[in-house]
Amino acid sequence: MKLVGLVGWRGMVGSVLMQRMQDEGDFAHIEPVFFTTSNPGGIAPKMAKNETKLKSATDIAELSKCEIIISCQGGDYTTEVFPKLRAAGWNGYWIDAASTLRMSDDAVIVLDPVNLNVIKDAMVNGVKNFIGGNCTVSCMLMGLGGLFKNDLVDWMTSMTYQAASGGGAQHMRELLTQFGTINSAVKNLLDDPASAILEIDRGVLATQHGLSAEETKQFGVPLAGNLIPWIDKDLGNGQSKEEWKGGAETNKILGRHNGSNVIPVDGLCVRIGAMRCHSQALTIKLKKDVPLDEINDIIANDNQWVKFVPNTREASVRDLTPAAVTGSLTIPVGRVRKMSMGPEYISAFTVGDQLLWGAAEPLRRMLRIVLD
Ligand code: HSE
Repeated sequence: MKLVGLVGWRGMVGSVLMQRMQDEGDFAHIEPVFFTTSNPGGIAPKMAKNETKLKSATDIAELSKCEIIISCQGGDYTTEVFPKLRAAGWNGYWIDAASTLRMSDDAVIVLDPVNLNVIKDAMVNGVKNFIGGNCTVSCMLMGLGGLFKNDLVDWMTSMTYQAASGGGAQHMRELLTQFGTINSAVKNLLDDPASAILEIDRGVLATQHGLSAEETKQFGVPLAGNLIPWIDKDLGNGQSKEEWKGGAETNKILGRHNGSNVIPVDGLCVRIGAMRCHSQALTIKLKKDVPLDEINDIIANDNQWVKFVPNTREASVRDLTPAAVTGSLTIPVGRVRKMSMGPEYISAFTVGDQLLWGAAEPLRRMLRIVLD
């Protein structure tokens, strides 16, 4: 059995990955070696077989023994350790959730239900670096991959509604703390059916404005009862890094980076007070006028995880929300209709659990592809 090194398995993405690997029986096919940045020599989790002690995640010699390494440790770790490993002559498969290596020429962004051909071609050509994509991009392509595979998309805008988890575990805690603080501040008024809603509203606003630096440490401003229309770095050209990733990574996943065949994908990325599902409102300009029922079929039949949601009020409010999707691999796609701009313009709305398809799932599936 292949020695597979696991780094960053205790964090939020890593924990979701461990759970999914257990659910799918992946540990039966590998000899896992658990690495740690904080507790070398500690006891490895119960999935360990022969190697029951934790190894140091910066020990290049120990890492080099692994034929495959999966890292959810984050970008700083990748930046520090990956070049040293390769410099030491390690030629194994590096499977990573961090964005550090995503756009490198010698790396492929993995999302096999969408780009198995790109992954397989790369493996034949000796590529050894397989990197998970940006969560928003991966969830969008899982939903709308069919339109891209049929080469129907002329351009697309993606307006996102991204959950707190995209920032990390501390961001989720901060959101909930803020919700609690705000609720406590107006609880007496809320409990009184005769109180005035505008008085409650004033109390909420005063509480949001009065949140301490500690209570807004992660997001910088309140997220509870609010939204933040900027995610990640300012690229200096009016675009956020998250928005840039939408176009750059979508095209790289699809194997379209030759200039002429690039599909313009752009939009605004917005943080909202959801926990761990990213949602997106899409405007898609098709290359030609395709009947709506054909479009629906192409989306619905692309992969087994897409759930096509009929464009009705009842189905949309029931099935097309973060609360309906969290914890599941299902990617609902709905609100599909022709827009008033013309017959080639369609709208769509999609939701995905950003810790599953957006982070952990493509990594464990890549492991299985390497093992096959
Ligand atoms: N950049 C994403 C977010 C995280 O902030 O929501 C997943 O790639």
